[in-house]
Amino acid sequence: MADNAKLIVEGKTYEFPVLVGSEGEKAIDISNLRSETGYITLDNGYGNTGSCQSSITFIDGDKGILRYRGIPIEELSEKSFFTETAYLLMYGELPSEGKLKSFSERLNKSSLIHEDMLHFFTGYPKGAHPMAILTSVVASLSAFYPVKDTLDPEDEEIIIANLMSQIRTIAAFSYKKSIGEPVVYPSNKLKFVENFLNMMFASPVKDYSLDPDVVKALDMFFLLSADHEQNCSTSTVRMAGSSLANIYSVIGAGICALWGKLHGGANQEVIEMLEHLRDTRTSPTAFVDAIKNNKGKLMGFGHRVYKNFDPRAKIIKGLCHSLLKKPGLNDPTFEIALKLEEIALKDDYFLSRKLYPNVDFYSGLILKAAGFPINMFTVLFAIGRVPGWLAHWREMRHDKHTRISRPRQVYQGPTRRAYVPIQDRK
Ligand code: ACO
Repeated sequence: MADNAKLIVEGKTYEFPVLVGSEGEKAIDISNLRSETGYITLDNGYGNTGSCQSSITFIDGDKGILRYRGIPIEELSEKSFFTETAYLLMYGELPSEGKLKSFSERLNKSSLIHEDMLHFFTGYPKGAHPMAILTSVVASLSAFYPVKDTLDPEDEEIIIANLMSQIRTIAAFSYKKSIGEPVVYPSNKLKFVENFLNMMFASPVKDYSLDPDVVKALDMFFLLSADHEQNCSTSTVRMAGSSLANIYSVIGAGICALWGKLHGGANQEVIEMLEHLRDTRTSPTAFVDAIKNNKGKLMGFGHRVYKNFDPRAKIIKGLCHSLLKKPGLNDPTFEIALKLEEIALKDDYFLSRKLYPNVDFYSGLILKAAGFPINMFTVLFAIGRVPGWLAHWREMRHDKHTRISRPRQVYQGPTRRAYVPIQDRK
């Protein structure tokens, strides 16, 4: 334990314990700050605030390090696969062969959604964004699979399998409805990613032929998306979960937060940006200049935590190079992305602000090559992120320090004043 931190307020000195994490990060534990000093902290966007202690994911944004349960993301992306990594995140250890087998069986057993839920999909207007459908259908799972207040380990297993498996079915059904095709049911004969691709792209009149390179690329995308410690959507999951709301609504809240274009919605924005450049034949240099002059955002660039490079972006860029080489999958927008990156990484505007490509800069290209329409990109991110959300939800539920999340504020509104009757108002 390091020394205490001293705070001098109005001439009085207070001491607060310093906590040191397993990778050496230091934090001042201010749990008693308000009760001892009468002060609170103000930290817009929470850039300096630790909301919990966690053992799931470690990020060192300055060195570009990302590890799930201690294992580097580079090693997982090379040696593991999505469902195994999901198990690692949620249960803390890589599964034995037997445990992985029973986990996969559980996922298969849970893949069907209640048949009555199919009515939901017909109620949405044509062209509804699949994220709008996903948020509401996932939240409504609790109507079909009621959640007890007190959960035993078996209940948790059921919830985990339901959410991981059913979000995939719901995502594929949303897509099928949006294009006016009948849904394709999941099949226990197929593995997680293959099953999803088949539900998306097979039809009653046409089989879908699985391309192992596409299966691998999508699996890798899910694995790289699986967790990222206290990001916006995961913090939302922890916040909503701290009220002991049912887990299906809690994950629905996480999906809503993910949708925003500064977060998971960025992968859609990136492809729209690249296609705009392609269609209008705008030069990447002119585009970057316009962003600098108008203080706009180069989508897929920048990160709250990574101030060096996003290790996920490196992996997925490598995957783009190999996947987009395949006959029929070549995509000119990849060249535009490479050019944009090259220009931005030589430009002082981006360098001085430590803006580097994030995972979303290249992920959309992989998803597009796999045949997904752009409006499904954030849905795919949500499927990948479910294990991370569930890992944090479990960790929080089993942490004896968990309290309902309830930040304070510094009030800046009017001080006390009298009610003015309507006839006397200006
Ligand atoms: N392009 C151009 N300038 C940028 C970008 C960008 N992508 N991102 C940040 N900046 C600039 C800001 O304008 C600001 O400039 P200033 O100091 O002159 O005002 C400076 O860099 C700091 O930016 P902030 O917005 O304060 O950084 P913050 O940590 O709050 O935001 C975020 C991080 C949201 C990711 C931001 O970089 C961004 O909007 N990027 C584009 C959207 C994106 O790709 N999101 C995906 C993130 S990864 C994920 O969620 C999976």
